[in-house]
Amino acid sequence: MCGIVGYIGNKPGRDIVLEGLEALEYRGYDSAGIALVDGGQSQCLKKIGRVTGLVGEAKKISSNAGLVIGHTRWATHGGVTNQNAHPQTSNDGTIFVVHNGIIENFAELKTKLEAAGYHFDSQTDTEVVPNLIDYYLKQTSDFEKAFKSALNDVRGAYAIAAISTKAPDKLFAARLSSPLVIGVGKNEHILASDPSAIMEHTKKVIYLEDYDMAVITGSKVKIHNLKDGKPVKPEAELLDFESEKALLGDYPNFMLKEIFEAPATIKTATLGRVNAAANTVKLGGLENVLRQLNHVERVVIVACGTASYAGLIGEYLIEELAGIPVEVQLAHEFKYRDEPFSRSTVLLAISQSGETADTIAALKKVEDFGVLRLGIVNAVGSTIARMTDAGVYCHAGPERAVASTKAFVAQVTVLMLIALHLSGGNSKRFSPLLKELEGLPSKAQAVLDQAETIKQIAEKYAGFNDFMFIGRKYGYPMALEGALKLKETSYIHAEGCAGGELKHGSLAMIDQNFPTFAFATESPLLDKISSNIQEVRARGGPVVAVATEGNTSIKDIADDVIYLPKTLEETQPILAAIAAQLFAYYIATKRGLDVDRPRNLAKSVTVE
Ligand code: AGP
Repeated sequence: MCGIVGYIGNKPGRDIVLEGLEALEYRGYDSAGIALVDGGQSQCLKKIGRVTGLVGEAKKISSNAGLVIGHTRWATHGGVTNQNAHPQTSNDGTIFVVHNGIIENFAELKTKLEAAGYHFDSQTDTEVVPNLIDYYLKQTSDFEKAFKSALNDVRGAYAIAAISTKAPDKLFAARLSSPLVIGVGKNEHILASDPSAIMEHTKKVIYLEDYDMAVITGSKVKIHNLKDGKPVKPEAELLDFESEKALLGDYPNFMLKEIFEAPATIKTATLGRVNAAANTVKLGGLENVLRQLNHVERVVIVACGTASYAGLIGEYLIEELAGIPVEVQLAHEFKYRDEPFSRSTVLLAISQSGETADTIAALKKVEDFGVLRLGIVNAVGSTIARMTDAGVYCHAGPERAVASTKAFVAQVTVLMLIALHLSGGNSKRFSPLLKELEGLPSKAQAVLDQAETIKQIAEKYAGFNDFMFIGRKYGYPMALEGALKLKETSYIHAEGCAGGELKHGSLAMIDQNFPTFAFATESPLLDKISSNIQEVRARGGPVVAVATEGNTSIKDIADDVIYLPKTLEETQPILAAIAAQLFAYYIATKRGLDVDRPRNLAKSVTVE
């Protein structure tokens, strides 16, 4: 899951592409590179590490080139070296390619090209592409035809951009599974993996679909479908999210900013959807499938990572409020399971980025099953948003930090709305939950107001290298999510465990060096989770408990307590998530780590 950017137009493209790469850096930050073509002249620069390093070098080269491509890498094939950084180049140095995805048959293509006298300098799969184009160019001398032939040989997932001194007035691009969008400007076009690299320059975009191949000049975008060769009429859309939101403001990093957006996130997720006074829930995005929804007999939720943990909370909510059986499956497991699927089953995909390849593959698997495919997505216009039959946007605004925080809060809120919608208002929890949702933003703010307290507690535990997270019922998915936040931001070994499961094995790990974070808010299971805390204490394990204000007895069994405002059992995960996110954040910052760009990870996983 890399980030690619391309520019063609009448302005010098170097800085536009570099700024685009900075905006896309959350997609991968192992290395970065840029190639510039100015007539018959070309320059190519690659650097290991963050985009800032490349910017420093690139600023030294003077160039007015109006044809530029760039790349920020998340390594899949080949280690983190300069050689493996993109752009990858043809042997004769005239063709430059940047790629996001995986070429599954690259070894076979490499053999074919080596037999034709080509050599390879990198361990990447991508290096076959510029050489394949060159291979066909020798046969056709028409770059567009050569590009097409090369793509027809490639198997796998790709978003590709190519430029060459042999076609200095065109930018070539193609998409299969990995996202690609073209920004339409005045005598210029900007190509990127997602709109965040474009929106500074234009709000008018063209999303490429699978098998689209585009030939782009400053004034024109020509698209063909690679499968049937037919021309595709470019459909321009307007981006409706403001770039301001993506700016850091006074925050030290995006993770803290996005945690502190929780109250606004709950508000926008319920805006125009919840009316407690009228006792109604209205989800415009589901209106065109209401008839099918009335006959739903089973819901299968597919997602990955944090989104799957939101799904687990959705499972409880939909089953309890709407009485419809739900199953949550990890998308990458769902794809390879052979299970019966009836038409009265709904497949609900949850994804912040809307570009997670595993979740896209899960949706594709049931494409011809005749089942309703719904989406809960944050990124507007993303692949999952466009491939589902209907859905509900989270409207949380761009989420830049790799660790998902506000999107989780929005996903759980939206799942609550869907559960209430599916209940048809028949649940006795309907009205109390609507009222609670309207007041929830201020309770979320009350949790944020305790940030300093949570910081002091977190820093006390920043030196531990193992952590257990426990919870019961709604607290169980929270334990999984809390552990994930700590793992991915502080690299601490952390486990999420259902409280009742501890004594079946994990308790063996507990001692004074293995603290436990317990979700012990007010619920019919408070006694149960308190007993689990006692089990930990009995083994000398330190305990941090998240509890509901007014619960004083918890202080007798926990070393530290984070108090949350009183709320309903179903809305507790939303408040508890904020506490767990801040806890992980302060431990990671205390350990001096880059919370926005954790090692080995990237924001949207666009390869299987
Ligand atoms: C969460 O903090 C991680 N970034 C990761 O687990 C993420 O939730 C997962 O990759 C799913 O991403 P999506 O919601 O964009 O599909």
